[in-house]
Amino acid sequence: MEEKVIYKSKQKTIYLDGDKIIKAHDDLYDTSLVLNEALNQSKVYEAGISVPKVYEVKRYNNKLGIVMDYIDGENLENLIMNNPNGINKYMDIFVSTYHDFTSNKALNLNNSYGRIKNKIFSSELPANIKYGLFYKLREMEFARDVIHGDYIISNIIIDRQGRAVVLDWGHVAFGDRKLDMAITYALFELKGQEKLGELYIDKICELEKIDKEQVFSELILAYIYIVDRYDEDIKNKIYNKIYEIIKSEEE
Ligand SMILES: Nc1ncnc2c1ncn2[C@@H]1O[C@H](COP(=O)(O)OP(=O)(O)O)[C@@H](O)[C@H]1O
Ligand SMILES: [Mg+2]
Repeated sequence: MEEKVIYKSKQKTIYLDGDKIIKAHDDLYDTSLVLNEALNQSKVYEAGISVPKVYEVKRYNNKLGIVMDYIDGENLENLIMNNPNGINKYMDIFVSTYHDFTSNKALNLNNSYGRIKNKIFSSELPANIKYGLFYKLREMEFARDVIHGDYIISNIIIDRQGRAVVLDWGHVAFGDRKLDMAITYALFELKGQEKLGELYIDKICELEKIDKEQVFSELILAYIYIVDRYDEDIKNKIYNKIYEIIKSEEE
């Protein structure tokens, strides 16, 4: 097979193979995470959401790979970086694509509640803060929005027909969309894309008819949700942000 690498990160390589890609994970990556991502993405596809269809999970170049449709197009991050005049239009696509899947009723997923509870209690925070966060989490115990958990502009491809296709379903679960919106905002911020984060919040809050303050009040939980994805220095940066919010709430 003629092999072409279309993406490479620390632990993942994506190969193009005809009209499909293989998203291959190195061996430091837990098998269960790869299988879970393939399962989630298949469920999401079957519920009618616009995602690449998954065909199989197989070993490839000694890595565990998810084989899925190749989406011929460009991701929203590249589109925004290369066409700064189109930011408004692309951000509208980003939020409306989210709006379209988060209320999907055909999808059955695990609830994020137990996972977030574990994250809170295994975090490095003092006990009183943990209980405060747990109390907050309980408000969303029965929320059934589809939350993506990694909804960022590089995870949306616009194909040649102009259709938005969403990638990276490893973190999807049922939960509260306000938390997911706070996660997206936090991810913009961590990448140094604060301006895009502000524009995103304005547009998504208008579309979802949710008060901005309600989203920002989920920020600590959002940080807790994502912190274990990172190495030590970013982890510390995130904990500093958490302590800053706690301090400002105490004032
Ligand atoms: N099915 C696909 N078709 C076309 N391009 C893809 C596909 N999957 C991933 N890509 C490209 O590779 C990049 C990284 O893929 P992604 O699944 O988001 O990996 P990661 O988990 O590292 O974020 C995407 O931003 C996109 O540009
Ligand atoms: Mg991605």
